[in-house]
Amino acid sequence: MAQRTILVTGGAGFIGSNFVLEWLANEDAAVVNLDWLTYAGNLHNLKGVNGDTTRHRFVHADICDRKSVAELLQRYRPRAIVHFAAESHVDRSIHAPDDFVRTNVNGTFALLEEARAYWMEMNREEKEAFRFLHVSTDEVYGSLGPNDPPFEETTPYAPNSPYAASKAASDLLVRAYYHTYGLPTLTTNSSNNYGPYQFPEKLIPLVILHAMQGKPIPVYGDGQNVRDWLFVDDHCAAIRTVLARGKLGETYNIGGRNEKQNLQIVQLICKIMDELRPNDPVTPHAQLITFVTDRPGHDRRYAMNTSKIERELGWRPKETFETGIRKTIEWYLSRQSWIDEVTSGSYRQWMAKQYSM
Ligand code: NAD
Ligand code: DAU
Repeated sequence: MAQRTILVTGGAGFIGSNFVLEWLANEDAAVVNLDWLTYAGNLHNLKGVNGDTTRHRFVHADICDRKSVAELLQRYRPRAIVHFAAESHVDRSIHAPDDFVRTNVNGTFALLEEARAYWMEMNREEKEAFRFLHVSTDEVYGSLGPNDPPFEETTPYAPNSPYAASKAASDLLVRAYYHTYGLPTLTTNSSNNYGPYQFPEKLIPLVILHAMQGKPIPVYGDGQNVRDWLFVDDHCAAIRTVLARGKLGETYNIGGRNEKQNLQIVQLICKIMDELRPNDPVTPHAQLITFVTDRPGHDRRYAMNTSKIERELGWRPKETFETGIRKTIEWYLSRQSWIDEVTSGSYRQWMAKQYSM
């Protein structure tokens, strides 16, 4: 493989697989894709590149397994690591935080240590060119009130869920590796993503599936919690931009400039579904909306100030929510086999446990 190869971790998950596909469509460099294939990882997301072994190599490994990571770095000698691999679902972190500490904290630590050992042995030119890009979240900043200004890169960390705390810990380790060892790191903190290949435990795909199937659409609490929604392709383009031109040791907020209450999102999806699927078991689909017990510690509002990445690197989101959500719904409606495959055994157990309503 070419020397300019990059290593992507978690590239069989939602954002990681979109990133791999977007990268290969836009860049010359090959991708080595390390993923442990947890319930959230799915090789079918990568069908479009499975035949292209000169530009895409899949490696089934755990980021906590330092020996495998070290071997992989020596074998492929990537010029960058783009680190997506994580446990990513807040509700699961409430039920079982152990996996979040293991992968998000210990796994990131393991990856940083092996990246550091690999980087230390490089010659000066390779050392200067190397990048470790850590993909993180707006949830590390905590929760905003209705009139608070959006999160900035300098907002103090105040994570409220085990997921957010584990991501905050990993961000701080990345920061320390830059300041202590000079490892050339970059960190991105993004708002809520949506788009193709998102596992249907997350709000938007879950609502689409339940609307199709005539099942109750669960809205936590009063449905007034606010998230800033970003189309996944825009996130992938932002990561490529930060990788190419980001300043070492810096963090960049990424967001869609698109704050919406959960209930607004759910109602809009139901409206589009009424138009696209008038013969579904229950219409209007909004009849399915069911208010359920709130998530413990549920953050009220996230909002991102993205002026740093816009001003310094010239990135801006391209997709509006209205076009992005329609594309997303149409994608799910045309992917019944993908849905059938990801909603098998362990998915059903999770839904029964979480939504026994
Ligand atoms: P996801 O849950 O869809 O995918 C995670 C991937 O990581 C899966 O393919 C899984 O198999 C893999 N993985 C998990 N543990 C692993 C391990 N120990 N070793 C190797 N691979 C492992 O997650 P996502 O939504 O695509 O999120 C990707 C990254 O982006 C995460 O770091 C998440 O914190 C961050 N992020 C997500 C969002 C969002 O809205 N989804 C927003 C901001 C940041
Ligand atoms: O903000 C970025 C984060 O966005 C990422 O770091 C996380 O990995 C990602 O999962 C996401 O976290 P959220 O908790 O915001 O996403 P989720 O889709 O789980 O929930 C979105 C909102 O919808 C949240 O306020 C909870 C609510 N919700 C969620 C589900 C699954 C419901 O009302 N009903 C539901 O069934």
